[in-house]
Amino acid sequence: MASRRKGGATDEGAKPAKLNKEAWRKTTRLFRYLRPHLGAFALGMLCLLATSLLSLAFPILLGKLVNAESSQGFWSAALSDLTNIDSIAKLLILVFALQAAFGFARIYLFGLVSENALANLRQDTYAHLVRMPMLFFARHRVGELNSRISADVALLQEGMTTSLAELLRQIITITLGITLLTLVSVQLTLTMLATLPVVALVAVFFGRWIRKLSKQVQDRIADTNVIVDETLQGIQNVKAFSNEAFEVGRYRSSVLKARDLALKGARWRGAFVSFIIFCMFGVIVFIIWRAVHLKAQGLLDMGDITSFLALSIMIGASIASIPELVTTMLKAVGATERLMDLQDGEPEPISLTPQTTPLPLKGEIAFEHVSFHYATRPEHAVLRDVSFTAKPGERVALVGPSGAGKSTIASLVLRFHDPVGGRITIDGKDARDYDLSALRHRMSIVPQEVLLFGGTIRENIAYGKPGASMAEIEAAARKANAHAFIAGFPQGYDTVVGERGVQLSGGQRQRIAIARAVLKDPAILILDEATSALDTASERLVQEALDKLMEGRTSIVIAHRLSTVRNADRILVLDQGRVLESGTHDELIANTGGLYHSLSRLQLSEA
Ligand SMILES: Nc1ncnc2c1ncn2[C@@H]1O[C@H](COP(=O)(O)OP(=O)(O)O)[C@@H](O)[C@H]1O
Ligand SMILES: [Mg+2]
Repeated sequence: MASRRKGGATDEGAKPAKLNKEAWRKTTRLFRYLRPHLGAFALGMLCLLATSLLSLAFPILLGKLVNAESSQGFWSAALSDLTNIDSIAKLLILVFALQAAFGFARIYLFGLVSENALANLRQDTYAHLVRMPMLFFARHRVGELNSRISADVALLQEGMTTSLAELLRQIITITLGITLLTLVSVQLTLTMLATLPVVALVAVFFGRWIRKLSKQVQDRIADTNVIVDETLQGIQNVKAFSNEAFEVGRYRSSVLKARDLALKGARWRGAFVSFIIFCMFGVIVFIIWRAVHLKAQGLLDMGDITSFLALSIMIGASIASIPELVTTMLKAVGATERLMDLQDGEPEPISLTPQTTPLPLKGEIAFEHVSFHYATRPEHAVLRDVSFTAKPGERVALVGPSGAGKSTIASLVLRFHDPVGGRITIDGKDARDYDLSALRHRMSIVPQEVLLFGGTIRENIAYGKPGASMAEIEAAARKANAHAFIAGFPQGYDTVVGERGVQLSGGQRQRIAIARAVLKDPAILILDEATSALDTASERLVQEALDKLMEGRTSIVIAHRLSTVRNADRILVLDQGRVLESGTHDELIANTGGLYHSLSRLQLSEA
């Protein structure tokens, strides 16, 4: 039975980066996105420093509080008198108030910087992506590209917004905290450093190992579910082969594997809890024991011990949080690398500013000994020595078996690819010498499968000319034989189409695509099997609209049904990338030994 995908979640794409020079170089390029917000960033850093410092004031003041004497009343004490309980309490409240204010400012400022930077990064990446050449899209899966913009930017976001600031804060806490500890007692600090961080780090890696185990258990359980799924779906097969015993055995061994792994997890979890209880608390007790000894020698007082313990716990927590933060940061570096790789790809020379004056084109197309193969399959010649001319306003039809290279010719005209040999000229000038955007702006294609995007019919038609007025849109729809059915919808042109709206028939979608093309007013028109998928009734409506659209434009018509190309000015018969015959319908049909003749006889007998 076909093995299905395992149920366990995959972390693909979220791997932390290896820290090499290249990774750093790419990461520093992010700085470009931070630069416009350097002021806010610096301010955020100051707030970060302030909150870290203030958080260290708490354990110190706590120690002072323990040592202090009580006094007359809460409000009468001065803030600066650190021997007085009330003044220390007031100071503590002030510390927390300041910490709250700085904490708010820090989080908001870092948010401001990173959200702006990320929004710009997202836009840049997308703008780069849509301008990449077709070859790029042949080499990358859509899902992969999608996850670049969504998942990778999200990883970067996590790294930049929280983890980076958190990491800095923890490092400040640890270094300053340890400095403060040595001020209280060098001896006790050494005892603490020799034990607590070690235990804290062991606990972190222990915890990770357990998480990894429990993920493996989940994967195993998913495996067992796959067996249930497969056998129940194919229960006929199981019974027909009377393989029930075999399947029960298969399931059993899979379940037992999951159980054993789960038990292993249980053992390690137990060990983890005992480790925490014994080592963690043991170390704390040990430090307290040492502290009490030092106190007996008169080296420490009660307040010092309190400060010391509170600081130690803070430092321990900081140290324990570092591995997680570093992992998140490394993931962000990995995501950055991938995003920068994407930005490094060479885009097509397409301008993103709207075309103001359309390129004046008469629309003459000439293929001169064009040969071509796709870069992804260089050994497979798709076009061989193809030559033909389409004069302005002419209709040239391409016919031939599927795989002959007809659509490839269309994509070469659109300059999705450039010829490998020979050249294509437009109005006598090499197509490569035109501004790509301006050239494509004067071309339109009506394909076999029209993709409408989720939006209103009006928006879908206006795609041919962004900013078109309602009157223009309606006029285009009328020319495309689309007005009648659009007006028939209760919401008319504001009807939403696509997944969340009305499903249109193939013929209706085709006529919307034609209305788009009418609005675009191209000099060169390409119809790639535009009516092939339609039933006869809607084909007639679409064909009528197409005939109107083709008037006065150079058209390349690719057709499956020969009946639709009968009145073309020239018909090219293609097979295996070669032009076998060319001429008008009457000329070609007269050649009784030719491919066109036999194709047309075949279709007549089918009809
Ligand atoms: N993007 C592509 N990458 C690689 N080979 C392709 C690609 N598109 C088409 N081909 C190959 O080129 C040949 C011609 O295809 P195509 O132009 O689509 O034929 P037609 O439109 O006449 O059916 C076929 O052999 C096809 O397999
Ligand atoms: Mg095709």
